[in-house]
Amino acid sequence: MGSSTLLIFFVLPILLVLAPLAPTIVGHHTSSACTDNADYCWSCVDNGGMQPTHNASNNGGIYRQNLNTLLSSLTSDPKINPRFYSSSLGQAPDKVNAIAVCRGDVAPEDCRTCFKDSVPIFLQKCADQKKGIIWAERCTVQYSNISIFGVLEYDPLKNVPSMHNVSNPEQYKQVRDPLFENLSEKAAAGDSDLKFAAGNVSVHVTNETIYATVQCSPDLDKQNCSDCLKESISEIPVCCDRVGGGRVLRPSCYLRFESSPF
Ligand SMILES: *[C@@H]1O[C@H](CO)[C@@H](O)[C@H](O)[C@H]1NC(C)=O
Ligand SMILES: *[C@@H]1O[C@H](CO)[C@@H](O)[C@H](O)[C@H]1NC(C)=O
Ligand SMILES: *[C@@H]1O[C@H](CO)[C@@H](O)[C@H](O)[C@H]1NC(C)=O
Ligand SMILES: *[C@@H]1O[C@H](CO)[C@@H](O)[C@H](O)[C@H]1NC(C)=O
Ligand SMILES: *[C@@H]1O[C@H](CO)[C@@H](O)[C@H](O)[C@H]1NC(C)=O
Ligand SMILES: *[C@@H]1O[C@H](CO)[C@@H](O)[C@H](O)[C@H]1NC(C)=O
Ligand SMILES: *[C@@H]1O[C@H](CO)[C@@H](O)[C@H](O)[C@H]1NC(C)=O
Repeated sequence: MGSSTLLIFFVLPILLVLAPLAPTIVGHHTSSACTDNADYCWSCVDNGGMQPTHNASNNGGIYRQNLNTLLSSLTSDPKINPRFYSSSLGQAPDKVNAIAVCRGDVAPEDCRTCFKDSVPIFLQKCADQKKGIIWAERCTVQYSNISIFGVLEYDPLKNVPSMHNVSNPEQYKQVRDPLFENLSEKAAAGDSDLKFAAGNVSVHVTNETIYATVQCSPDLDKQNCSDCLKESISEIPVCCDRVGGGRVLRPSCYLRFESSPF
C-alpha cells in the first residue's frame, strides 16, 4: 500500500472527523456581529468548550444567575458610578466579573440609558457564553469568568468602518495620525475614573474636518492605555483607511473618527 493510499484511507478520514471539533478542543470560539446600522456590536467568547445551549433549565445555572444579577444592578442601582462600573459576584467556578464604561463626553443620565438599552441585547446575544462584550455608541459592557479589572485585553477586536469615502486619503492620514497621537497621550494621562480625549482638526486641502475620540477603560494604567491605543491606531489602515471614519473596538480601549461631529 503506497503512502498516498494510506493518507486517503486512514489519515484523511481522521482529519475530516476531527476538523469540525477543532474549535471546541482549542476552546476559543468567538462570534461577533453588529446590528444593521452598527448601533450595537458584540463579541461572545466561548472560552473553554462550553457548548452554547438554549436549554431553558440551563438558564437557572448559577453562572447565568450571577450574570443576570450583576448586569441588572448596573441598570437599576442609582448609586453606581454611571461612568465606570466594576463589580464581581459569586464563587469560582461561577464567579462573574463585569466592567461597564460610558463614553467620556456623555451625560450621566444618558450613560444610564445606554446601559439600560444595551444590557438586554447583550444578554440575548452572549449570555450562554462565559465571556462577552457589547459596544454601543455611547457605552461598553463586558463580563468574564476570569478577572478583568486592570487587565489589558486587545481581543476580541472589532472594526466598524463608516460608509463614506474621502476624496484625498493621503492628506486625510497626514492630519489624522498626529491628532490620534495627541489624543492618546491625553487619554492615557487621565485618572482612575476617566481616560478619555476628544478633538478635531481640519484637512486644509479638501476643507474637511476630522472629529476623533479615544478612550481606555479607566482601570488600566497609563502604559497599558497607551499601548492599547497604539495598537488600535495601527489598525486604522486595516479598518478604515479610505473612508472618512470608523471605529476600532477592543475590550480595553475605544477609538473613533468621523467627518462630522458624533
Ligand atoms: C472560565 O471558563 C472556562 C470555560 O468554561 C474554564 O475553562 C476556565 O477554567 C474558567 N476560569 C475560571 C477562573 O473560572
Ligand atoms: C435540558 O436540561 C435538562 C436538565 O439538565 C435535561 O434533563 C434535558 O435533557 C436537557 N434538554 C436538552 C434538549 O438538552
Ligand atoms: C499592564 O497589563 C498587564 C496585563 O494585563 C499587567 O500585568 C501589567 O502589570 C500592566 N501594567 C504595565 C505597566 O504593563
Ligand atoms: C468607496 O470606494 C470603494 C473603492 O475605492 C468603492 O468600492 C465603494 O463603492 C466606495 N463607497 C462609496 C460609498 O462611495
Ligand atoms: C495636543 O494638541 C493641543 C492643541 O492642538 C496642544 O495644546 C497640546 O500640547 C497637544 N498635546 C500633546 C500631548 O501633544
Ligand atoms: C473642535 O476643537 C476645538 C478646539 O480645538 C473646540 O473648541 C471645538 O469645540 C471642537 N468642535 C467640536 C464640534 O468638537
Ligand atoms: C470650507 O468650509 C467652510 C465651512 O464649512 C466654508 O465656509 C467654505 O466655503 C469652504 N471652502 C471651500 C473651498 O469649500
